[in-house]
Amino acid sequence: MRVIGLMSGTSYDAIEAAAADLALDGDTLLLRPLGHLCVPYPDDLRDHIAAALPPAPTTTRAVCALDTGIGQAFADAAGRALRDLCAGTADLVVSHGQTMHHWVEDGTVRGTLQLGQPAWIAEATGLPVVSDLRSRDVAAGGQGAPLVALTDALLLSGLPGTPAALNLGGIANVTVLVPGAEPLAFDTGPANALLDAAVHHFTDGAADYDEDGHRAAAGQVSPELLRVLLDDPYYRRPAPKSTGKEHFHLPYLRRALDTVPVPVTADVLATLTRLTAVTVADACRAHGVTRLVVSGGGTRNPVLMRMLAEELPDVPLRPSDDLGLPSAAKEALAFAVLGFLTAHGLPGVLPSGTGARRATVLGSITPGRSPLRLPEPAARPPRLLRITR
Ligand SMILES: Nc1ncnc2c1ncn2[C@@H]1O[C@H](COP(=O)(O)OP(=O)(O)O)[C@@H](O)[C@H]1O
Ligand SMILES: [Mg+2]
Repeated sequence: MRVIGLMSGTSYDAIEAAAADLALDGDTLLLRPLGHLCVPYPDDLRDHIAAALPPAPTTTRAVCALDTGIGQAFADAAGRALRDLCAGTADLVVSHGQTMHHWVEDGTVRGTLQLGQPAWIAEATGLPVVSDLRSRDVAAGGQGAPLVALTDALLLSGLPGTPAALNLGGIANVTVLVPGAEPLAFDTGPANALLDAAVHHFTDGAADYDEDGHRAAAGQVSPELLRVLLDDPYYRRPAPKSTGKEHFHLPYLRRALDTVPVPVTADVLATLTRLTAVTVADACRAHGVTRLVVSGGGTRNPVLMRMLAEELPDVPLRPSDDLGLPSAAKEALAFAVLGFLTAHGLPGVLPSGTGARRATVLGSITPGRSPLRLPEPAARPPRLLRITR
């Protein structure tokens, strides 16, 4: 089955599209990557998303416009992927959409809202679309996140020691494979969320992120600010847990800076970069991680990667590319896998990761141009993932 996966994370910088041929061979899932592409959001859409994200108030009119605008942007990315990665032929599109709100109360997820109306994607490509992948897990008592855990666990299985996969998007999440135990997966805290918010704020919107870590490299970590930021109870809460930009946003950072004024911007950025490194490292140490497979936009920040290596001196850090999944495409491919599993009637979650009562088949399906025909349900879920060429 040829599947296109579409993803935009909490950084809402761009839609990542990846295509793959997927097949089940006994208990092995075969994945042949067909390439990936990145379609930046149009500037005005990005501004509209920013204006509607918490803690800002919004209107149902704005939500409706965003559902359409994001749906159309995803449809455009899907069309490009179909043409440029799949030579015009594919069976399924899987769309994560754009998270606008991940509603967490006292550690429980009560709802999660991803916008990007799938009808636009189905109409543009003629293909069936699996979307809204998180809600079913929430309805089953889970966090609805992290959803890449199942693909991570399949990918890491067979590696020695206690391997973990780390994705550094707006939020950082890890999947840890402790030998003889169910896989663990949770959000460790911010990866780039606070850093991006600070860069945007202190440059008056001239820059959206700390390109190549240049600004943080010129600063000194403020131990006082770091201590205040690390005092957030989220870091001490046991997994399963998930978080988002509803929590780690600019007003959150400004409250910390009110307590501990740090006059030099570069120092604030150095401290925020160190905060990500320390909280990821703490989470890894707590579970005895012996090697880390890293992906996401944060891998392109050499200062963050250096700090992470300093915090975890005995843990080799390797990009997911080494295991055959390009770092920039890993999440989009993971969603392609989830849609493939849904189409085959297979669950897409690890309840040990999300905390759900049971593993559910994820998503809603929008038919394409032809009558919806799903494959024969698969007899059992895959236990291994093999990347082929
Ligand atoms: N060259 C770079 N230097 C520093 N940071 C980068 C670079 N490229 C990407 N990033 C960071 O990665 C983020 C995007 O990562 P991504 O994996 O797309 O996150 P998300 O899944 O949340 O959208 C950007 O917002 C930025 O913070
Ligand atoms: Mg992104």
